Amino acid sequence: MTPLLQLADVSAGYGPLTVLHGVSFSVNEGERMCLLGRNGVGKTTTLRTIMGQTDLRTGSLVWRSREITRSTTVRRSRLGIGYVPQTRDIFPSLTVEENLVAGLRNRPASDVVRAYKLFPRLHERRRNGGVELSGGEQQMLSVARTLLGEPRLLLLDEPLEGLAPIICEELISAFDTLCEQEGVAILLVEQKVQEALRFAQRALVLDHGAMVHESDTTTLQVNPAILDRYIAVADIPVTAEN
Ligand SMILES: Nc1ncnc2c1ncn2[C@@H]1O[C@H](COP(=O)(O)OP(=O)(O)OP(=O)(O)O)[C@@H](O)[C@H]1O
Ligand SMILES: [Mg+2]
Repeated sequence: MTPLLQLADVSAGYGPLTVLHGVSFSVNEGERMCLLGRNGVGKTTTLRTIMGQTDLRTGSLVWRSREITRSTTVRRSRLGIGYVPQTRDIFPSLTVEENLVAGLRNRPASDVVRAYKLFPRLHERRRNGGVELSGGEQQMLSVARTLLGEPRLLLLDEPLEGLAPIICEELISAFDTLCEQEGVAILLVEQKVQEALRFAQRALVLDHGAMVHESDTTTLQVNPAILDRYIAVADIPVTAEN
């Protein structure tokens, strides 16, 4: 099977700073992956590199057999890569509906209905301003806006950060629906390790800008030593629960 996205020996950073060192991995069509690691190891930089928003030093990126190493961010998003950044990307002065319509570009207005179907809570709040939304609703809006571009791969940067467990569940169930019903692949960066491992099929662990572990999530769940070594102790799942 041809991977959806392939990174080969990618080193990248910002100006003189190299953050990622020889990172290689691939994401398959419809796959649920998570990218874990401590603060500052380069998780966001990995997602930004996939979007072409960092300075690439070496390596290549291939999207559905097509090289995109030098493609612009706009081109990558048109090809089907959607990016929901860590800073929830919405217009606070616009209402929910205006935010969605602004994200439509040339797409039919009926696409907004699809967004409401996935996040009924946004439909209830459609006339509320962006500033009036809770953190969870802002995150839903940010994800919904990105989905209007009909991505085949969704890059999510800590979508659960600061959210109550019940809202996390609501978001994860929407991500499940996207993968199962629409075949969208998701690369999830998350500090909430238990939630990430439960959601994903495959896990990548990054440390100091290098990929130090890759396996299916069940392997990682029964190997707390790996998590202990590369992820903050407080986030280690309780193995008895699994
Ligand atoms: N725009 C930037 N310019 C220069 N350096 C940056 C920039 N963004 C991040 N860095 C640096 O790159 C390194 C990796 O940062 P990155 O944001 O990718 O980490 P992260 O794993 O996402 O961390 P966190 O868990 O805190 O979100 C850090 O040393 C950071 O200071
Ligand atoms: Mg980050």
